[in-house]
Amino acid sequence: MIARRAAEVTPFYVMEVLEEAQRLQREGAHVIHMEVGEPDFDTPTCVVESAMSALRAGQTHYTHSMGLHELRAAICGDYRERYGARVAPEQVIITQGTSPALYLVVAAVLEPGDEVILANPCYACYPNYIRFAGGVPVYVDTDEDGGYQLEPAAIAGKITPRTKAILINSPANPTGVVLDAERMAAIAGLGPLVVSDEIYHGLVYEGQEHSILEYTSDAVALNGFSKQFAMTGWRLGYAIAPLGLARALQKIHQNLFISANSFVQWGALAALQEPECRTAVEKMRQTYAERRLYLLERLNRLDLSIPHPPTGAFYMLVNFRRYCSDSLSFAFQLLRDAHLAVAPGIDFGSNAEGYLRFSYATSLENIAEGMDRLEKYLATLR
Ligand SMILES: Cc1ncc(COP(=O)(O)O)c(C=O)c1O
Repeated sequence: MIARRAAEVTPFYVMEVLEEAQRLQREGAHVIHMEVGEPDFDTPTCVVESAMSALRAGQTHYTHSMGLHELRAAICGDYRERYGARVAPEQVIITQGTSPALYLVVAAVLEPGDEVILANPCYACYPNYIRFAGGVPVYVDTDEDGGYQLEPAAIAGKITPRTKAILINSPANPTGVVLDAERMAAIAGLGPLVVSDEIYHGLVYEGQEHSILEYTSDAVALNGFSKQFAMTGWRLGYAIAPLGLARALQKIHQNLFISANSFVQWGALAALQEPECRTAVEKMRQTYAERRLYLLERLNRLDLSIPHPPTGAFYMLVNFRRYCSDSLSFAFQLLRDAHLAVAPGIDFGSNAEGYLRFSYATSLENIAEGMDRLEKYLATLR
């Protein structure tokens, strides 16, 4: 009854850790959450106000299938200001999150058996998108000694006549790594279409993130409002694509989704345009920056240091191979015994097995308590 492509979708294990944590909480446990990849902040007030005004003003209808022209123009302005990229509103398609934008892209470009090159480890859901659209994920290994930097030469070595795209993500989930300008430029020049998931842009604590559109106009940038603007539940993202591809994305979007939510798009316009919102976003970034340093220090003290500390997103992928070879069982054990929820490395690929991903999108107090619990728990294992 279930089609093979649906049966083959693997579970998103971090969600299973979260659901078990919620079950323990219903039984009265006080769980520290460092597993979920979502900002703990409320959405900036000016975004909420703008969406509420839009609702009151009757902005409750379908919008253009590619999204509000005003918002698409603001996104073009943002990419121009931040990266010097020149893109037109006709290249931008607004979707209900970055996730549907990625779905549109794989659906539009992949023929059965086409290959997509991506990093191992990578965002847990990527391989499922590729397989669901009939494609084949082809992995390039990255590791902590190399700071999880994707090497253009290693990607080049995986290119075959079936390669349709290279999927990159910087700053990255689960490693927090930011790809440097030289590598981005080299990847842009390899030949296949580069699809660049830029959802963690704006969350960088040292150095600078780069958009693929700085190096080529023949690429797809995916982005959204979930992370930088603390808008996960609003569901809004977008793809910026070369014109011909944008039209293909638009047609799929028209048929499958019609348009993104109208009042949510008005909220997002304020997120990009209101100075008050910029201030709120910068405050969140500075808070993550403090938490990052604190978490790094606590991990160091536990002898769980990371050779190249991550500089973006809000994750740290930490080597626990001394303590476990099965990260999924270990994550559940840590949850049940210490009431500390983290993401098992295996969710993100075989190279992250034996690792745990810690999210610092939670308060300093929670991080401190989480690290105290971890310290006590590890002492019981020695
Ligand atoms: C790398 C990456 N891409 C995409 C998404 C999905 O984002 P959205 O909420 O915009 O669908 C996530 C969410 O965790 C992510 O980590």
